[in-house]
Amino acid sequence: MHDNDFDWAAMADLLELEGEAHSSYVRQALDDLAELPDLDPRRILDIGSGPGVAACRMAEAFPRAEVTAVDGTPELLARAEQRAARLGVRLRTESAEFPEGLTGLGTADLVWSGHVVHHVGDQQDALRRLTALLEPGGVLAIVEGGLPIRRLPRDLGFGRPGLEARLDAVSAERFARMRAELPGSVAVVEDWPGMLRAAGLTEVHSRTYLVDHPAPLAEGPRRTVRRALERHRAVLGELLDAEDAATLDRLLDPDDPAGVDQREDLYLLTAETVHFGRRAKG
Ligand SMILES: C[S@@+](CC[C@H](N)C(=O)[O-])C[C@H]1O[C@@H](n2cnc3c(N)ncnc32)[C@H](O)[C@@H]1O
Repeated sequence: MHDNDFDWAAMADLLELEGEAHSSYVRQALDDLAELPDLDPRRILDIGSGPGVAACRMAEAFPRAEVTAVDGTPELLARAEQRAARLGVRLRTESAEFPEGLTGLGTADLVWSGHVVHHVGDQQDALRRLTALLEPGGVLAIVEGGLPIRRLPRDLGFGRPGLEARLDAVSAERFARMRAELPGSVAVVEDWPGMLRAAGLTEVHSRTYLVDHPAPLAEGPRRTVRRALERHRAVLGELLDAEDAATLDRLLDPDDPAGVDQREDLYLLTAETVHFGRRAKG
């Protein structure tokens, strides 16, 4: 079931921009996957692909594989198709609702799922269902955890210093509410490697990749920062005090030299964690 807290189609621009700005971690994770012994994926599923940034990278990295982007939001799958056409890579798309729509996708040698499992009520069950999609010897890679994104100096020169730490705090509250309200929500200790093992996977390991765009930002990451702060203003605005809300408004003012469109000190720094596990061969 899609949760109602997110209008995924409306987030298409942000998902694509953020996917592009963070995509170095996907490339590095795919390099790591290519090093695994006996993994030459012929069929790859990207579950919850969104606009297909990672899926297109997989199609580039494994040109002999059939890569399928799977998502419940048709507008995002359309974006994935446009992206693949633009980049000249081979990509299939398939619409499915998780978790029930996962059966019927067939099996794969590599199943990737980025920032998706935490949107499913029963995360352990979701991991079991993703594991069931694997061929013997196949690999599941899920992107969960990592670090919050940093974009702004602690002291902006106006407003109360430490805005991003307070945005993180209200995001965490909203996230907890979102999870509690998901259909079939089950509380679980979010020990991702432990959960992969409980799903029956072996060779479980995690790796964290730094995403580092120092100041001054190029056009793409700068637009990513604007979109992300616009979303924070829209969805977290009510949870912030008046001074922080006003600070965000000023940052988003295109005419203000201290706003995100003009300031030279914006950066984009984060870390993405990928948890890998393998289905035993025999
Ligand atoms: C946060 S986005 C992640 C996009 C991409 N994988 C990435 O790492 O940037 C979550 C994606 O999962 C999809 N999604 C979330 N819940 C879903 C559900 N229950 N069924 C199908 N798709 C779902 C959304 O449409 C969205 O594209």
